[in-house]
Amino acid sequence: MTLSTAFTRLFGVRHPIALAPMGGSAGGELAAAVSRGGGLGLLGAGGGDPEWLARELPIVAGAGVPWGVGFQAWATTIEVIELTLEHGPGAVMFSFGDPGPFVERVHEAGAAVIIQVTDLEEARQALDLGADVVVAQGTESGGHGARHGRSTLPFVAVVVDLAQGVPVLAAGGIADGRGLAAVLALGAAGAVIGTRFQATSEALVDPSTAKALVEGRGQDTERNRILDIARNSRWPSRYTARTLGHPYLDRWRSREAELAADPAAARLAYEGEVARGDVPASPVWAGEGVDLVTDLPPAADLVAALASEAGRALARAGRD
Ligand SMILES: Cc1cc2nc3c(=O)[nH]c(=O)nc-3n(C[C@H](O)[C@H](O)[C@H](O)COP(=O)(O)O)c2cc1C
Repeated sequence: MTLSTAFTRLFGVRHPIALAPMGGSAGGELAAAVSRGGGLGLLGAGGGDPEWLARELPIVAGAGVPWGVGFQAWATTIEVIELTLEHGPGAVMFSFGDPGPFVERVHEAGAAVIIQVTDLEEARQALDLGADVVVAQGTESGGHGARHGRSTLPFVAVVVDLAQGVPVLAAGGIADGRGLAAVLALGAAGAVIGTRFQATSEALVDPSTAKALVEGRGQDTERNRILDIARNSRWPSRYTARTLGHPYLDRWRSREAELAADPAAARLAYEGEVARGDVPASPVWAGEGVDLVTDLPPAADLVAALASEAGRALARAGRD
């Protein structure tokens, strides 16, 4: 069954699947592989480190496939967006923060604007700004999201109703074809998938992260700011991150305010523990769908498998 939606038609892709623009781990090879497989590969530019972009942008831009790039709105600048637009992305996605300063410039360059939202106020703002696609992110998601996020299932449905025909993609906890089928049934035009694509051969993750994703369970993930504080990260405090369990979390879980009271000391202590090998250097960002990650396939094969499993799930639904 071909899953044709407003999203597949807008970008001329075969499957209603977008790679989440995972900062650092969704590099040019992964984005190109997802697009070659029939989805839309979105490069994970984070705030837009120029050196990283200079290395990764040409890889996906030179692959001869539809592609896009995603930025954390709070961390990026118009200069970085200008530089990126020179490579000709078909889409630029903004998440976490105000995309307002960037939308017009992206449209002028002929690219579609995708805005990821975490609550209804953000969804309304995205539609007012003229987003071509809205991504409704549920709190099941891996990586960063709203501290007071919504669950994917009810949130996607209400954003679809609000959007009145503007394509909505669902994000958060979708890691196999059944999840994709479920959000299509809600009226979404496709899914933005992160955690599952982190566990592919092209992802820019080290082998210990890949192993942790295959072994990880959704019930071992948790959402908080502890590791952002400990790493002295600049993420605004309204965003938390979902990660796999981490020894540092066990000690600080209920003492976030205490840790945040002296961030410099927190960072020093954390770095000391990392240097001694007591805690891993980096958290493993993973969503609740991580139970469904059981292998490390090539990303293009995964796209095809997700799409055909979704087709089967939709054909089978209600017929058993
Ligand atoms: C490792 C990781 C890094 C992420 N980094 C970003 C990012 O830089 N920008 C962004 O818009 N979203 C980022 N996200 C969130 C995704 O856009 C998306 O909402 C999420 O991956 C969907 O949930 P899932 O992980 O359950 O598929 C990240 C997610 C993960 C897992």
